[in-house]
This record gives sequence, structure tokens and C-alpha cells, in this order.
Amino acid sequence: MNPQHQVDQFLPGAASAMAQQVDWMIIAFTIVALFLVVPVFVGFTYWSWKYRAGRNVDRSHREARNVRVELSWTLIPFALTLIFYVWGARAYDTNLHPPPDAMHIQAVGRQWMWKFQHPGGQWEINNLHVPVNTPVEIDIASQDVVHALYIPAMRIQMDAIPGRSTKLWFKADRIGRFLLECSEFCGTDHSIMAGSLDVMNPTAYQAWLTGAGAENSLAAAGKLLFSSYGCSGCHEGNSTVRAPSLVGLYGNPVPMQMGGSIVASRGYIQDKILDPKKQPIAGYKNVMPSFAGKMPEADLLKIIAYIQSLGRSRGQP
Ligand code: CUA
Repeated sequence: MNPQHQVDQFLPGAASAMAQQVDWMIIAFTIVALFLVVPVFVGFTYWSWKYRAGRNVDRSHREARNVRVELSWTLIPFALTLIFYVWGARAYDTNLHPPPDAMHIQAVGRQWMWKFQHPGGQWEINNLHVPVNTPVEIDIASQDVVHALYIPAMRIQMDAIPGRSTKLWFKADRIGRFLLECSEFCGTDHSIMAGSLDVMNPTAYQAWLTGAGAENSLAAAGKLLFSSYGCSGCHEGNSTVRAPSLVGLYGNPVPMQMGGSIVASRGYIQDKILDPKKQPIAGYKNVMPSFAGKMPEADLLKIIAYIQSLGRSRGQP
């Protein structure tokens, strides 16, 4: 998390009409609360002081009823509460129902990353590109535990629950980069399960889609091979055989059984696939079969591209 993110977290600027409305609601509610609370505390303090022990004042209890005053302090706060009820319920309802023409993005949360997929199949990790002034609906799922997708600048947040589909939507009206993060404690690396939302003008977004499509095609093919060669059986989420997750492997040091560590470069990943017994990793049984002679070079490249695409952020050990 960079310093700008910290500033954003304290007072994030609103980047959608809905976010502005939420801000107005909070400001208005704070003013009303102050309007109701301050007189009570001022009176409380004044009369505590006036009628303090030992002071010579009139302590006779005179009956003083004033129906109009009593009605006013009952009905005015009631009306104010009703206004907030209607205002809040309407905003809640709008938030609940994305416009029918919204573009759909799939989000999958897992320990500890967000994967976003665009309508054209392009996908990205911990980063989401969207066009400005376009309603975007995010359909959210979780692959393991409960996470929550939180975009402070849009003032929206939704849980990602295993076995259930949830959604949120927003229409950004400012171009820029905003924080997105997981807001539900989900394990050791919950705090790094964050990234950025890039709101772009529609032309730049189209250009990004085209670029990302080409860039990801190798990795996407690798992902299919990753399953068909059986790699995913051990190296993914809920496998029964204990094998290291490959999320965040690329570019990070891997601890060795003999001590020390090796940075997982493309070369290292290739060596591991072809000759897994060579340099045993600390904490794991050396049970992976060798794929030397069983995997054509072209497949190998695609699988490495896929492992690379799993990101540089630190994953499971
Ligand atoms: Cu995922 Cu916190």
C-alpha cells in the first residue's frame, strides 16, 4: 500500500454520483445528529453546574407541562428520521439493482488475490480496468473463504461468499486510479489482497482490451494445459495432495531444503517442471513427477506464461 493509498483510505474522493450521494447523506446525518445532541449536552452541563451540591438554589419541583414543546421534540426528530429512511432506502435500492445495460465483469476472490474477467474473456489480477461513465456490474464469487470486494472511491462493498453469487455495480464519473481491496479478514495475507481500479476513457479502454487480449492469450492457453496435464490437481486451492500454490510464485524467492533460496525466474520454473527432484523446496515432500519428454516445448512455454500471469504478489507459502 503506497502513501497515496493511505490518504485515499482516510478521505477518499468520491468518483461516482452514488458516492457523492452517500457523502451527502453522511454529512446531512452528522449535522442533524449534532443539532439534536449539542443542545442536550449544553443543557446537561449548564444545569449540572447550576444545581451542583451545596449551592443555594430553588430545588422545589414545579410541575411545568407544555404540550407544544413536547410534541415538537417528538415529531421533528421523527420526521427527520423518516426523511433519512426514505433517502437511504432509495439509495440502497438503486445500489441493489444494476441498470439492465450495465457491462458485466466477473470477479473471483481467493487467498489472496482478486481475478477480474472482462466480457471479451480478457482477465487481470488485482487490477481492474473499466470505462468512465459506463455502468459496470461486477458479479462476485469466492473460490475458498469469505472475502469482500471494497472500492472506497465508489462507496461500495460486497461480500464474496463461497457457493453463492453476489454483485455490486457502479458508474464511475472520474478518470483515474482508485484503490480496491478485500475488506473481510480472510487469512495471513488479507492485508495485501488489494489492487487498483483504473477508470479510463472508452477509447483507451478499448485499446487496453485489445492489448490485454493478445497478452493473455498465451497464459489463457497455458491455464487450460495446466488442468489437462494435471498440474492443477495438486497446485490449486482445495487439492488433497499438499503442494505449493503457484500464486505469486513468479519473481519471488523460494526457500530451499538445503538452506538459502532461489528466485523463481522463468528458467527456475522450467527446471522445476522438467526436473522437480533437482533442488528440493523446504517444507514439501519431493513427490512431483518429471515432465521431461512428456511435454512439448510449446506447451511448456504456455504453462510458464500462465504461472507468470498468476502475479508477483506474495501467495501461499
Ligand atoms: Cu480476502 Cu481479506
